[in-house]
Amino acid sequence: AAGPLILSVESSCDETAMAVTDSHGVVCASVVATQIDFHARFGGVVPEIASRKHTEAIVGVLEETLAQAGAHFGVDTLAPDDLAAVGVTAGPGLVGALVVGVAFSKGLCAATGLPLIAVHHLEGHLMANLFETPDLKPPFVASLVSGGNTMLVHVRAWGDYEVLGATIDDAVGEAFDKVAKALGLGYPGGPVISKLAEKGNRKAIHFPRAMMHSGDYSFSLSGLKTSVITYINNENRAGRPINLPDLAASFEAAVVDVQVAKAVTAVEQTGVSDVCIGGGVSANPALREAYRRRFGRMGVRVTVPPLAACGDNAAMIGIPALRSYLAGDFAPLTLDADPNAAL
Ligand code: KG4
Repeated sequence: AAGPLILSVESSCDETAMAVTDSHGVVCASVVATQIDFHARFGGVVPEIASRKHTEAIVGVLEETLAQAGAHFGVDTLAPDDLAAVGVTAGPGLVGALVVGVAFSKGLCAATGLPLIAVHHLEGHLMANLFETPDLKPPFVASLVSGGNTMLVHVRAWGDYEVLGATIDDAVGEAFDKVAKALGLGYPGGPVISKLAEKGNRKAIHFPRAMMHSGDYSFSLSGLKTSVITYINNENRAGRPINLPDLAASFEAAVVDVQVAKAVTAVEQTGVSDVCIGGGVSANPALREAYRRRFGRMGVRVTVPPLAACGDNAAMIGIPALRSYLAGDFAPLTLDADPNAAL
């Protein structure tokens, strides 16, 4: 009844993840092995460490995923022969990290004869919204906000993506991480900052809303990051204690206001009636709430991924992989990782 089963593999950054998806898109297994602890002491992801940790983890993640899928079907474990195809994130991401998942998947396909499917990482983040709203259909507008990307996309059809604009410098998640680092709050910064922000006043400190009225869909985050760091240095120099919740809430408000404003313009200009968010920062409660409130007033439906599908995972990679499988869209075993793959 489950039909062909797709194994999906994700290793674009600091999570080694695999999932098994059936032909109805049901996730039969999903395993995410995070490396966060190994990067935390450096205040960010160290690419060389990421590659090595993927190499160490990847076989164990496959075994655990096949066992989990087995349990789903009431057997001990699945064998690679029970699968119909392997989908893998080919880009964008850290090249040395991507290469581990891509080479592993190619090896698995070469050994078993299974067909290989190449998946775009951001298409996975985008389609993670289908876990929340299964009837979500293009056209719609999507804000993609993660540690490596910040863009506004007009999804004209599945597979037909018009990138309306992107950041000209830092990504939103990167700004959260750098502000947290400046405050000595560790990595990743997003969860810590958003937790602090819940108790703070978003109007306490005014930070710039860069490019909010630039008339296009470009974003800039590095000026905001610099102004938060300048604020911290000034307060420290003056010997004034910093109110962390107020600082976090004020910084977060500057980020959220710009994201919402540009998404509103995009929705108005494209005339769509759905908007969604994707990427690690889509877990941010203030951002989710601001979209719901602002678009709720406009009668535009807002979808955000379930919290477990916001950060990097392979279940989200399984959705585009299944679409490609059904379309017969396979990749050759010469597939290479593409760190800068365009959407
Ligand atoms: O999508 P993701 O797991 O990895 C990339 O592909 O980049 O995103 C990770 C990013 C990190 O920068 C992290 O700080 C941020 O997402 N993040 C958050 C929150 N949770 C994770 N940013 C703001 N608020 C959060 N609650």
